[in-house]
Amino acid sequence: MVRILFVCLGNICRSPMAEAIFLQLVKKANLVDQFEIDSAGTGHWHVGEKAHRGTLAVLNTHEVPYTGRARQITRADLGKWDYIITMDEDNMEAVRLLGSSSARIVSMMSFAPERGFSEVPDPYYDGRYELVYDLLNSACTGLLSTLLKDRRDLFVEVASSQPIPAT
Ligand code: 4NP
Repeated sequence: MVRILFVCLGNICRSPMAEAIFLQLVKKANLVDQFEIDSAGTGHWHVGEKAHRGTLAVLNTHEVPYTGRARQITRADLGKWDYIITMDEDNMEAVRLLGSSSARIVSMMSFAPERGFSEVPDPYYDGRYELVYDLLNSACTGLLSTLLKDRRDLFVEVASSQPIPAT
């Protein structure tokens, strides 16, 4: 089992989009049982709200479902997740300020260095939801392939336990 928490500021734009895209990739790879995936914001302003309409619209365009509600990260999260993946430097700083964590705290765009973005830009301010979708799609794809390499033992075990189809 690999536990991943995506984190942004409000938990209504970038991190829910990352959560939805990554879950979709995991479903397509038939690896749902191997993952626990969630998202949270460092801020409290939108707790309990649905994702931003711009987020839901772009996810809908790409046929990616999402029904989550915003929540704020807590200190309990620091001990629960294997990876806490932050959208920008401010998010990373805010997570580190919460306390020490057993998770690997890493930046989302580090999984798509070819895109040339060190941070995921915040579409809440400029409306570039399609750009953010595209960047997150690249980063989620990079994240899954990194995990498939790093945690090969886990996934090989799953693959070999699949029933062999009758010929
Ligand atoms: P997010 O975007 O961090 O990607 O969810 C934001 C959402 C809300 C606010 C800022 C950023 N806000 O200030 O309310």
